[in-house]
Amino acid sequence: MAHIPYRTLYTGARMPAIGLGTFGSDRVTADQVAAAVVGAAEVGYRHFDCASVYGNEDRIGESLRTIVRGGIPREELWITSKLWNDKHAPADVIPSCEKSLRDLQLDYLDTYLVHWPFPNFHPPHCDVTSRSPDARPYIHENFMKTWRQMERLVDLGLVKHIGTSNVTIPKLRLILRDARIRPAVNEMELHPHFQQPELFDFVRANGIEPIGYSPIGSPGRPERDRTPGDTVDLEDPVIVEIGKRLEIPPAAVCIKWAVQRGQTPIPFSTTRRNYESNLKCLATEPLSAEDMRAIAAIDHNCRLIKGQVFLWRDGQSWEDLWDLNGEIAQ
Ligand SMILES: NC(=O)c1ccc[n+]([C@@H]2O[C@H](COP(=O)([O-])OP(=O)(O)OC[C@H]3O[C@@H](n4cnc5c(N)ncnc54)[C@H](OP(=O)(O)O)[C@@H]3O)[C@@H](O)[C@H]2O)c1
Repeated sequence: MAHIPYRTLYTGARMPAIGLGTFGSDRVTADQVAAAVVGAAEVGYRHFDCASVYGNEDRIGESLRTIVRGGIPREELWITSKLWNDKHAPADVIPSCEKSLRDLQLDYLDTYLVHWPFPNFHPPHCDVTSRSPDARPYIHENFMKTWRQMERLVDLGLVKHIGTSNVTIPKLRLILRDARIRPAVNEMELHPHFQQPELFDFVRANGIEPIGYSPIGSPGRPERDRTPGDTVDLEDPVIVEIGKRLEIPPAAVCIKWAVQRGQTPIPFSTTRRNYESNLKCLATEPLSAEDMRAIAAIDHNCRLIKGQVFLWRDGQSWEDLWDLNGEIAQ
């Protein structure tokens, strides 16, 4: 599709610079997400962000088969999946990827990510106060054992690129130091109220493409993922004013800003009008430098996906997961 920009990864591969998220959480069923994947391909999406923990890869696999049978070659698609936290043990990595491949009905993945850097199991849909007795902090030596198996997936041809998600600069420094195959992408929360400028600059300076999750501020996230200080990107006066002036919805302002800034947003939507608008807005006039500056100035450092369930000690707060003082919390 002519109006979809692409990012060139360090391997030379070209990744569509917008994808469809597929995490339905507890509000949207696997069937609804699977139907949206087919609909999104019809309107021009070629990039789909999946994960085993989303519990819908088998249904999405049927959609991908429909898409390819409908005439879109597999090579035009960009499919990501992710290793869940309870599968970090070296013996679990390859079988876990093979299960995603079977479910998605694919021979290979374009990107396979370690979903979180913490090897902690918690059941899907659990409350943020839930804690695992087996919870552990980030232990680099152990993470690298997982990463070695991620590298083997590339050697085996099952995966074209490997990547990280929800990591911090101190963790990435160690991973980059020790990796034989470097991460090609890093998936991180990115929206106008949470721009993570240091991490964003760091990953790009290291040849890693930033993938931005919750790009419009995750307005549909469940109550358990909301805290009183959370702000709402779609209601920000700057976003609303730009949208009114350009006659596009506030969500489209967030998506255009993301792509122009240099990240790859992966908005989730099962509403055709919305996912179509999120893509089509990229074909219209870019935001002006002035509008880009105005959006840069509304960063509230407001992290929405805090990760509380990964905490490993009593008395910790979610900030401990994000190495705010520049050191890996233990
Ligand atoms: N790596 C990670 O740890 C991680 C964490 C979180 C998310 N993710 C990925 O990122 C994806 C997106 O994140 P997200 O779902 O949290 O947040 P999001 O994409 O910012 O927000 C999705 C919500 O916005 C609504 N929406 C979409 N387009 C809209 C539009 N044009 N106008 C108004 N509302 C609109 C959707 O409702 P409708 O369906 O009605 O359009 C849905 O409720 C996930 O699906 C997942 O693939 C990854």
